[in-house]
Amino acid sequence: MRVFVDCDPGIDDAVALAYLAARPEVEIVGVGAVFGNNSVDVTADNALRLLALYGRPGVPVAVGAARPLVQAPRLAEHVHGDNGLGDVELPAPSEKPVAESAAELLVRLVRESPGEIDVLAVGPLTNLAIALGLEPELPGLVRRLVVMGGAVRVPGNVASHTEANINNDPEAAEAVFGAGFDLDLIALDITMKTVATPEWLAELKEVPGERAERTSAFLDFYAEFYTGIFGVRQCAMHDPLAAAVLVDPHLVTESFEAPLRVELSGRLTRGMTVADLRQRPARDDRRPARVITEVAEAAFLGLMLDALR
Ligand code: BDR
Ligand code: CA
Repeated sequence: MRVFVDCDPGIDDAVALAYLAARPEVEIVGVGAVFGNNSVDVTADNALRLLALYGRPGVPVAVGAARPLVQAPRLAEHVHGDNGLGDVELPAPSEKPVAESAAELLVRLVRESPGEIDVLAVGPLTNLAIALGLEPELPGLVRRLVVMGGAVRVPGNVASHTEANINNDPEAAEAVFGAGFDLDLIALDITMKTVATPEWLAELKEVPGERAERTSAFLDFYAEFYTGIFGVRQCAMHDPLAAAVLVDPHLVTESFEAPLRVELSGRLTRGMTVADLRQRPARDDRRPARVITEVAEAAFLGLMLDALR
Protein backbone atom coordinates (compact mmCIF):
# COMPACT_ATOMS: atom_id res chain seq x y z
CA MET A 1 0.00 0.00 0.00
CA ARG A 2 1.09 3.56 -0.71
CA VAL A 3 0.78 6.09 2.12
CA PHE A 4 1.20 9.85 2.38
CA VAL A 5 1.71 10.95 5.99
CA ASP A 6 0.76 14.43 7.14
CA CYS A 7 2.14 14.99 10.62
CA ASP A 8 3.62 17.29 13.27
CA PRO A 9 6.33 15.15 14.93
CA GLY A 10 5.82 15.02 17.92
CA ILE A 11 6.51 11.92 19.99
CA ASP A 12 3.45 9.91 19.05
CA ASP A 13 3.82 10.99 15.41
CA ALA A 14 7.34 9.52 15.62
CA VAL A 15 5.96 6.20 16.84
CA ALA A 16 3.37 6.24 14.03
CA LEU A 17 6.19 6.65 11.51
CA ALA A 18 8.00 3.73 13.15
CA TYR A 19 4.91 1.55 12.71
CA LEU A 20 4.62 2.37 9.00
CA ALA A 21 8.35 2.20 8.31
CA ALA A 22 8.63 -1.29 9.78
CA ARG A 23 6.10 -2.73 7.36
CA PRO A 24 7.59 -3.86 4.06
CA GLU A 25 4.22 -3.67 2.31
CA VAL A 26 3.98 0.06 3.10
CA GLU A 27 5.54 2.52 0.68
CA ILE A 28 5.70 5.95 2.30
CA VAL A 29 5.30 8.11 -0.80
CA GLY A 30 5.73 11.41 0.99
CA VAL A 31 5.55 13.17 4.31
CA GLY A 32 3.98 16.58 4.83
CA ALA A 33 4.94 18.51 7.92
CA VAL A 34 2.63 20.93 9.66
CA PHE A 35 2.88 23.18 12.73
CA GLY A 36 1.30 21.72 15.85
CA ASN A 37 3.41 19.98 18.43
CA ASN A 38 6.18 22.40 17.41
CA SER A 39 6.87 24.94 14.66
CA VAL A 40 6.75 23.56 11.12
CA ASP A 41 10.51 23.99 10.68
CA VAL A 42 11.08 21.73 13.67
CA THR A 43 8.44 19.17 12.69
CA ALA A 44 9.84 18.94 9.12
CA ASP A 45 13.36 18.54 10.47
CA ASN A 46 12.11 15.88 12.89
CA ALA A 47 10.37 14.03 10.05
CA LEU A 48 13.69 13.79 8.19
CA ARG A 49 15.55 12.63 11.31
CA LEU A 50 12.86 10.04 12.08
CA LEU A 51 12.74 8.61 8.56
CA ALA A 52 16.51 8.09 8.80
CA LEU A 53 16.19 6.48 12.25
CA TYR A 54 13.43 4.13 11.13
CA GLY A 55 15.20 3.09 7.94
CA ARG A 56 13.31 5.06 5.29
CA PRO A 57 15.76 7.66 4.02
CA GLY A 58 14.90 9.23 0.68
CA VAL A 59 11.19 9.72 1.36
CA PRO A 60 10.32 13.27 0.24
CA VAL A 61 9.49 15.52 3.17
CA ALA A 62 7.64 18.75 2.39
CA VAL A 63 7.25 21.74 4.65
CA GLY A 64 3.60 22.67 5.10
CA ALA A 65 1.58 25.24 6.97
CA ALA A 66 3.31 27.29 9.65
CA ARG A 67 0.01 28.43 11.15
CA PRO A 68 -3.71 27.68 11.12
CA LEU A 69 -6.02 29.11 8.44
CA VAL A 70 -7.61 31.66 10.77
CA GLN A 71 -6.51 31.65 14.39
CA ALA A 72 -3.07 32.14 15.94
CA PRO A 73 -0.90 29.00 16.35
CA ARG A 74 -0.41 27.25 19.70
CA LEU A 75 2.40 24.73 20.11
CA ALA A 76 2.86 21.89 22.63
CA GLU A 77 6.44 21.84 23.89
CA HIS A 78 5.20 20.95 27.37
CA VAL A 79 3.88 17.64 25.99
CA HIS A 80 6.56 16.77 23.41
CA GLY A 81 9.68 18.60 24.64
CA ASP A 82 11.47 21.67 23.30
CA ASN A 83 12.63 19.75 20.21
CA GLY A 84 9.32 17.91 19.75
CA LEU A 85 10.98 14.56 20.48
CA GLY A 86 11.14 14.51 24.25
CA ASP A 87 14.49 16.37 24.20
CA VAL A 88 16.12 13.25 22.75
CA GLU A 89 18.68 14.38 20.17
CA LEU A 90 18.72 12.48 16.88
CA PRO A 91 21.52 13.01 14.34
CA ALA A 92 21.02 16.03 12.10
CA PRO A 93 19.41 15.02 8.80
CA SER A 94 21.58 14.56 5.74
CA GLU A 95 18.62 15.38 3.50
CA LYS A 96 16.60 18.55 3.05
CA PRO A 97 12.88 19.10 2.57
CA VAL A 98 11.72 19.22 -1.03
CA ALA A 99 10.87 22.54 -2.69
CA GLU A 100 7.12 21.83 -3.00
CA SER A 101 4.83 22.64 -0.09
CA ALA A 102 3.16 19.73 1.72
CA ALA A 103 -0.16 20.50 -0.01
CA GLU A 104 1.50 20.71 -3.43
CA LEU A 105 3.35 17.42 -2.90
CA LEU A 106 0.16 15.64 -1.82
CA VAL A 107 -1.83 16.98 -4.76
CA ARG A 108 0.86 16.07 -7.28
CA LEU A 109 1.24 12.53 -5.92
CA VAL A 110 -2.50 11.74 -5.92
CA ARG A 111 -2.96 13.24 -9.39
CA GLU A 112 -0.16 10.97 -10.64
CA SER A 113 -1.74 7.89 -8.99
CA PRO A 114 -5.48 8.54 -8.64
CA GLY A 115 -7.24 6.24 -6.18
CA GLU A 116 -4.01 4.53 -5.12
CA ILE A 117 -2.72 6.57 -2.19
CA ASP A 118 -3.96 6.50 1.40
CA VAL A 119 -3.45 9.52 3.61
CA LEU A 120 -2.65 9.34 7.31
CA ALA A 121 -3.28 12.74 8.92
CA VAL A 122 -2.04 12.94 12.49
CA GLY A 123 -1.57 16.68 12.97
CA PRO A 124 -3.71 19.78 12.47
CA LEU A 125 -5.57 19.44 9.16
CA THR A 126 -4.26 22.69 7.64
CA ASN A 127 -2.20 21.07 4.86
CA LEU A 128 -5.18 18.97 3.77
CA ALA A 129 -7.45 22.00 3.72
CA ILE A 130 -4.92 23.89 1.58
CA ALA A 131 -4.65 20.85 -0.71
CA LEU A 132 -8.45 20.90 -1.10
CA GLY A 133 -8.13 24.51 -2.24
CA LEU A 134 -5.55 23.46 -4.84
CA GLU A 135 -7.50 20.39 -5.95
CA PRO A 136 -11.22 20.25 -5.11
CA GLU A 137 -11.36 16.66 -6.47
CA LEU A 138 -8.90 15.53 -3.78
CA PRO A 139 -11.44 13.27 -1.96
CA GLY A 140 -11.91 11.27 -5.16
CA LEU A 141 -8.18 11.04 -5.82
CA VAL A 142 -7.25 9.82 -2.32
CA ARG A 143 -8.10 6.17 -1.63
CA ARG A 144 -8.72 6.40 2.10
CA LEU A 145 -8.08 9.06 4.73
CA VAL A 146 -7.40 8.16 8.36
CA VAL A 147 -7.41 11.12 10.73
CA MET A 148 -6.27 11.20 14.34
CA GLY A 149 -8.32 13.92 15.91
CA GLY A 150 -11.42 14.92 17.78
CA ALA A 151 -13.29 13.93 20.89
CA VAL A 152 -16.75 12.74 19.91
CA ARG A 153 -18.34 11.14 22.99
CA VAL A 154 -15.58 11.86 25.51
CA PRO A 155 -13.96 14.99 27.00
CA GLY A 156 -11.32 16.86 25.04
CA ASN A 157 -7.64 17.11 25.93
CA VAL A 158 -6.70 20.74 25.29
CA ALA A 159 -10.05 22.07 26.54
CA SER A 160 -13.24 20.54 27.90
CA HIS A 161 -14.67 19.72 24.46
CA THR A 162 -11.73 19.89 22.08
CA GLU A 163 -8.88 17.66 20.99
CA ALA A 164 -5.51 19.22 20.01
CA ASN A 165 -5.38 18.47 16.26
CA ILE A 166 -8.89 19.77 15.61
CA ASN A 167 -8.53 22.64 18.06
CA ASN A 168 -5.29 23.72 16.37
CA ASP A 169 -7.19 24.48 13.16
CA PRO A 170 -10.97 24.12 13.45
CA GLU A 171 -11.65 25.76 10.07
CA ALA A 172 -9.31 23.33 8.31
CA ALA A 173 -10.87 20.32 10.07
CA GLU A 174 -14.37 21.46 9.13
CA ALA A 175 -13.31 21.76 5.48
CA VAL A 176 -11.80 18.26 5.52
CA PHE A 177 -14.80 16.66 7.29
CA GLY A 178 -17.15 18.22 4.74
CA ALA A 179 -15.15 17.37 1.63
CA GLY A 180 -16.43 13.83 1.05
CA PHE A 181 -13.36 11.68 1.82
CA ASP A 182 -13.62 8.00 2.69
CA LEU A 183 -12.67 8.88 6.26
CA ASP A 184 -11.88 6.93 9.41
CA LEU A 185 -11.65 8.99 12.60
CA ILE A 186 -9.37 7.89 15.41
CA ALA A 187 -10.51 10.23 18.14
CA LEU A 188 -9.75 10.47 21.85
CA ASP A 189 -12.73 8.11 22.27
CA ILE A 190 -10.41 5.27 21.35
CA THR A 191 -6.90 6.66 21.84
CA MET A 192 -7.33 7.48 25.52
CA LYS A 193 -8.24 3.89 26.27
CA THR A 194 -5.61 2.27 24.05
CA VAL A 195 -2.52 3.10 26.02
CA ALA A 196 1.09 2.03 26.27
CA THR A 197 0.89 0.40 29.68
CA PRO A 198 3.73 0.41 32.23
CA GLU A 199 4.33 -3.27 31.34
CA TRP A 200 4.50 -2.52 27.62
CA LEU A 201 6.89 0.39 28.19
CA ALA A 202 9.07 -1.90 30.32
CA GLU A 203 9.06 -4.56 27.60
CA LEU A 204 10.12 -1.96 25.02
CA LYS A 205 13.09 -1.03 27.21
CA GLU A 206 14.39 -4.59 26.84
CA VAL A 207 14.31 -4.49 23.03
CA PRO A 208 17.86 -4.02 21.71
CA GLY A 209 18.76 -1.68 18.87
CA GLU A 210 18.81 2.02 18.19
CA ARG A 211 15.23 2.31 16.95
CA ALA A 212 13.77 0.78 20.07
CA GLU A 213 16.16 2.62 22.39
CA ARG A 214 15.40 6.03 20.94
CA THR A 215 11.67 5.37 20.80
CA SER A 216 11.73 4.23 24.40
CA ALA A 217 13.49 7.47 25.34
CA PHE A 218 10.84 9.53 23.48
CA LEU A 219 8.09 7.64 25.27
CA ASP A 220 9.75 8.15 28.67
CA PHE A 221 9.20 11.88 28.21
CA TYR A 222 5.63 11.35 26.96
CA ALA A 223 4.77 9.00 29.82
CA GLU A 224 6.04 11.60 32.28
CA PHE A 225 3.47 14.08 30.92
CA TYR A 226 0.68 11.48 30.80
CA THR A 227 1.33 10.31 34.36
CA GLY A 228 -0.26 13.60 35.40
CA ILE A 229 -3.41 12.60 33.50
CA PHE A 230 -3.68 8.84 34.09
CA GLY A 231 -2.18 8.73 37.58
CA VAL A 232 0.03 5.84 36.43
CA ARG A 233 3.18 5.87 34.31
CA GLN A 234 1.67 5.12 30.92
CA CYS A 235 0.84 7.13 27.82
CA ALA A 236 -1.74 7.45 25.09
CA MET A 237 -0.83 6.12 21.63
CA HIS A 238 -2.89 8.53 19.53
CA ASP A 239 -1.00 8.66 16.24
CA PRO A 240 0.41 5.09 16.23
CA LEU A 241 -3.12 3.76 16.64
CA ALA A 242 -4.21 5.74 13.59
CA ALA A 243 -1.28 4.27 11.62
CA ALA A 244 -2.26 0.79 12.80
CA VAL A 245 -5.90 1.21 11.79
CA LEU A 246 -4.74 2.34 8.36
CA VAL A 247 -2.39 -0.60 7.82
CA ASP A 248 -4.26 -3.25 9.81
CA PRO A 249 -7.99 -2.43 9.56
CA HIS A 250 -8.86 -5.82 11.10
CA LEU A 251 -7.78 -4.34 14.46
CA VAL A 252 -11.06 -2.39 14.53
CA THR A 253 -13.72 -4.30 16.44
CA GLU A 254 -16.40 -1.60 16.79
CA SER A 255 -17.25 1.64 15.04
CA PHE A 256 -20.19 3.76 14.03
CA GLU A 257 -20.85 6.01 11.09
CA ALA A 258 -21.86 9.64 11.33
CA PRO A 259 -21.33 12.86 9.45
CA LEU A 260 -18.83 15.03 11.34
CA ARG A 261 -18.76 18.77 11.82
CA VAL A 262 -16.55 21.13 13.76
CA GLU A 263 -17.99 23.86 15.97
CA LEU A 264 -16.48 27.12 14.75
CA SER A 265 -18.20 29.72 16.86
CA GLY A 266 -19.07 28.35 20.30
CA ARG A 267 -17.74 30.42 23.19
CA LEU A 268 -16.95 27.27 25.16
CA THR A 269 -16.99 24.72 22.36
CA ARG A 270 -15.06 26.19 19.41
CA GLY A 271 -13.03 23.31 17.97
CA MET A 272 -15.44 20.62 19.20
CA THR A 273 -16.03 17.65 16.88
CA VAL A 274 -19.77 17.21 16.53
CA ALA A 275 -21.43 13.99 15.37
CA ASP A 276 -25.18 13.56 15.14
CA LEU A 277 -25.59 10.61 17.51
CA ARG A 278 -29.38 10.35 17.35
CA GLN A 279 -30.85 6.94 16.50
CA ARG A 280 -32.54 8.54 13.54
CA PRO A 281 -30.41 11.51 12.58
CA ALA A 282 -31.77 14.20 10.32
CA ARG A 283 -31.17 13.82 6.59
CA ASP A 284 -27.65 14.99 5.89
CA ASP A 285 -25.84 15.48 2.61
CA ARG A 286 -22.45 15.18 4.27
CA ARG A 287 -20.71 11.83 3.69
CA PRO A 288 -20.50 9.99 7.04
CA ALA A 289 -17.13 9.17 8.59
CA ARG A 290 -16.37 5.94 10.40
CA VAL A 291 -15.66 6.71 14.07
CA ILE A 292 -13.62 3.95 15.66
CA THR A 293 -14.80 3.04 19.16
CA GLU A 294 -13.12 -0.30 19.96
CA VAL A 295 -9.91 -2.00 18.77
CA ALA A 296 -8.06 -5.22 19.57
CA GLU A 297 -5.75 -3.50 22.04
CA ALA A 298 -3.40 -6.37 22.85
CA ALA A 299 -2.93 -7.17 19.16
CA PHE A 300 -2.16 -3.51 18.42
CA LEU A 301 0.43 -3.28 21.20
CA GLY A 302 2.00 -6.53 20.00
CA LEU A 303 2.26 -5.20 16.43
CA MET A 304 3.68 -1.93 17.74
CA LEU A 305 6.39 -3.80 19.64
CA ASP A 306 7.15 -5.95 16.59
CA ALA A 307 7.64 -2.77 14.59
CA LEU A 308 10.36 -1.63 16.98
CA ARG A 309 12.21 -4.95 17.22
C1 BDR B 1 -2.80 14.67 19.03
O1 BDR B 1 -2.21 15.92 19.35
C2 BDR B 1 -0.83 15.88 19.18
O2 BDR B 1 -0.19 16.52 20.24
C3 BDR B 1 -0.46 14.43 19.10
O3 BDR B 1 0.69 14.24 18.30
C4 BDR B 1 -1.68 13.80 18.50
O4 BDR B 1 -1.65 13.86 17.10
C5 BDR B 1 -3.50 14.12 20.24
O5 BDR B 1 -4.51 14.98 20.69
CA1 CA C 1 0.44 14.43 15.94
